[in-house]
Amino acid sequence: MSSSQAFFSWIQHSALSSTIRGSTSLFPWLESIHVLAITTVVGTIAVVDLRLVGLASRDRPASELMADILPLTRAAFALAVLTGSLLFASNALDYLHKAPFVAKLILLCVALLNIAVFHRLTVRDIQRWDTARSPPLSVKLAGAISLAVWIGVVACGRWTGFV
Ligand code: HEM
Repeated sequence: MSSSQAFFSWIQHSALSSTIRGSTSLFPWLESIHVLAITTVVGTIAVVDLRLVGLASRDRPASELMADILPLTRAAFALAVLTGSLLFASNALDYLHKAPFVAKLILLCVALLNIAVFHRLTVRDIQRWDTARSPPLSVKLAGAISLAVWIGVVACGRWTGFV
């Protein structure tokens, strides 16, 4: 058994994971909170992305919109990671063999990378496009990629339950 397999097997057989697996109500409760968290994450990110592509909130400065919304996104993301990790722990080894679950984790990394690039590069010259009703192509592209990737994360998350 490889060391990563041993690690995930240890997670799956921990007392916490066994408690979640053995309970009839814990998994559905965690999944309900997970769904509330992810709808908040994806919903709030979509509001920002639609502003970036120039399709909504066109009269609000992008910086103001992001400052209002992104703290809520971060808190909801933390809750999604916490509940998602507990759901994962209940059957870690099985989930790692489910292609949609692995695809979801990869897409999550792409989404986080896109956010990092956006904040490091695109936001640097925000004064230039902050109030533009139709932002420059690079900004629109960042928003469009983000929308597409988050839709992929949700689709793979939903799909996981069916394999
Ligand atoms: C904000 C990021 C995330 C999004 C958008 C997301 C999306 C989803 C969706 C749509 C579902 C299906 C819910 C349902 O059908 O009732 C789901 C379930 C699940 N998620 Fe996430 N998720 C996120 C983060 C995570 C993370 C970080 C993990 C683990 C490391 C994770 C692990 C799981 C697990 C194990 C399930 C249950 C799958 C099943 O057996 O049905 N999620 N997620």
